[in-house]
Amino acid sequence: MEQTLLLIKPNVVRKNKIGAVISILEDRGLLIKKMRMLIMTKELAGKFYAVHTGKDFYNRLVEFMTSGPIVAIVLEHDNCVAYVREIIGNTNPEKAAEGTIRKLYADSLTENAVHASDSPDNAKIEIGIIFGED
Ligand code: CMP
Repeated sequence: MEQTLLLIKPNVVRKNKIGAVISILEDRGLLIKKMRMLIMTKELAGKFYAVHTGKDFYNRLVEFMTSGPIVAIVLEHDNCVAYVREIIGNTNPEKAAEGTIRKLYADSLTENAVHASDSPDNAKIEIGIIFGED
């Protein structure tokens, strides 16, 4: 069964909405296979977001992602990557559909509440970066 990686970002943790986000995921039938709370180091953020190195928003993104605890979750479902991307909504919360996690909990494009892998191949890579040999 397909898996993806979801990160609950520091702004959601600060708002006490970890449970609200997890409820949405579970209510949509997603299985939680692994979960951990961690603080991203600059090194880990650099590895995770390597594809964005050099972009104008990169430093802002790394600053934010290392600003407090995050929750990393491995989710499982049929067609999991596309299904979770639909549930979280557009990267830009101003474009996110009603009822999506980003529409509900994002504060800005950088503080957009959650991250989810954008392809099955990237899901495997990102799960490996966060959960290693677990
Ligand atoms: P995320 O899914 O974590 O992947 C990369 C992140 O970069 C994205 O969500 C946004 O939080 C952040 N970001 C900031 N500015 C932009 C932008 N202009 N385009 C895409 N992502 C951006």
